[in-house]
Amino acid sequence: MMVKHLSLKTVFFAAIAVTSLTGLLMVAFCASDPTVRKENDEHEFRIAALEKKIENLQSGAKHEFVEVRKLNYKDRKRILVTGGAGFVGSHLVDRLMVDGHEVIVVDNYFTGRKKNVGHWIGHENFELIHHDIVNPLFIEVDQVYHLASPASPPHYMYNPVKTIKTNTVGTINMLGLAKRTRATLLLASTSEVYGDPEVHPQAETYWGHVNPIGPRACYDEGKRVAETLCYSYAKQENVAVRVARIFNTYGTRMHMNDGRVVSNFILQALQNEPMTIYGDGQQTRSFQYVSDLVDGLILLMNSNYSQPVNLGNPEEHTIREFAEMIRDVVGGKNSIVNKKAVMDDPKRRKPDISLANKVLGWKPRVSLADGLRKTVAYFKKELELRTGDPVKAFDLSQVL
Ligand SMILES: NC(=O)c1ccc[n+]([C@@H]2O[C@H](COP(=O)([O-])OP(=O)(O)OC[C@H]3O[C@@H](n4cnc5c(N)ncnc54)[C@H](O)[C@@H]3O)[C@@H](O)[C@H]2O)c1
Repeated sequence: MMVKHLSLKTVFFAAIAVTSLTGLLMVAFCASDPTVRKENDEHEFRIAALEKKIENLQSGAKHEFVEVRKLNYKDRKRILVTGGAGFVGSHLVDRLMVDGHEVIVVDNYFTGRKKNVGHWIGHENFELIHHDIVNPLFIEVDQVYHLASPASPPHYMYNPVKTIKTNTVGTINMLGLAKRTRATLLLASTSEVYGDPEVHPQAETYWGHVNPIGPRACYDEGKRVAETLCYSYAKQENVAVRVARIFNTYGTRMHMNDGRVVSNFILQALQNEPMTIYGDGQQTRSFQYVSDLVDGLILLMNSNYSQPVNLGNPEEHTIREFAEMIRDVVGGKNSIVNKKAVMDDPKRRKPDISLANKVLGWKPRVSLADGLRKTVAYFKKELELRTGDPVKAFDLSQVL
């Protein structure tokens, strides 16, 4: 019995000795391996940075924010921006925050990103909610800017059923919220409700020419139903609505893979690739800079005009002219190549903005040259920050 006891003890201590020795050898080996040493250094560096952050938080040091106006409680509104982490939404949020309002952003990050509003996180007037508007939302607000919806063809065609749900079920949810809270709701509608227009330029009185079963229908018809919903809630439930028919908009914080002509041309021009035109390049477009759009949206929301209003820049150019202008701003020598025209591509697009001018006193102020310079600078910086795969212009012929 004693012999058995002793031998068990011996085996136990021997096992501990062997394990410790192996551990020591492993540590010594790892410490001498340069890859492991580099990883350890990186971890230590990150932990030190985190500790510094915690120290700052504990010391009560304040994050630096852009200065915002101090409004009294009567003028300060609680404003919901759906899709506020997207391109247009984030610029609108900046303006509303600087004006001194309380802003709540709701976004599912399908095409938006936290980074677009990251500079407001932690501000006492700002709240960010990760939420899909296809599900109901119960919060208290005075105004709703309803922007949540994918906006560019590759994005809205990625999941056409979801695009329709967002614009129909999502819009019903937001109108329900506006009804319950007696808030005013502004819908970000689109010039796509005019489809491939037979009248030129397009005024709000034009009913449109849309293919209801084409590849763009999920978006075009989705927005048409969203407008119908707004006026049904206005008539039946007394909800105050505003409808902005937004024409092509560009600017900083645009999605790099937006897939539309401005981002495609800029990416190609900056990366010394041939610039691709779908069709003969004689189709026309007009582009407004994002800050002009934000001015128009805020004026419309705070007006008492409830019928649809076009917001866009009437300066019309052929797609070929756009390609050449962007190439000039970038200073490249890219060739311009023509590819097969894409399906249901509108031939002419130009807003009639006389109504916006009359009821809101609005017209765009940023010239195309200035807007393009700012946008090209933004894309250049974004490309420099990316170290992974190159960002390719989107090939529209793959989806249309
Ligand atoms: N940019 C334009 O040229 C243009 C033209 C006409 C109309 N619009 C309209 O303006 C609005 C904003 O467009 P944008 O260019 O900023 O597009 P964007 O894709 O950058 O922004 C849309 C935002 O909505 C969010 N979103 C999408 N589906 C959602 C859902 N189900 N729930 C919650 N969030 C959701 C996205 O994550 C994104 O942040 C859209 O409604 C669009 O239809 C834009």
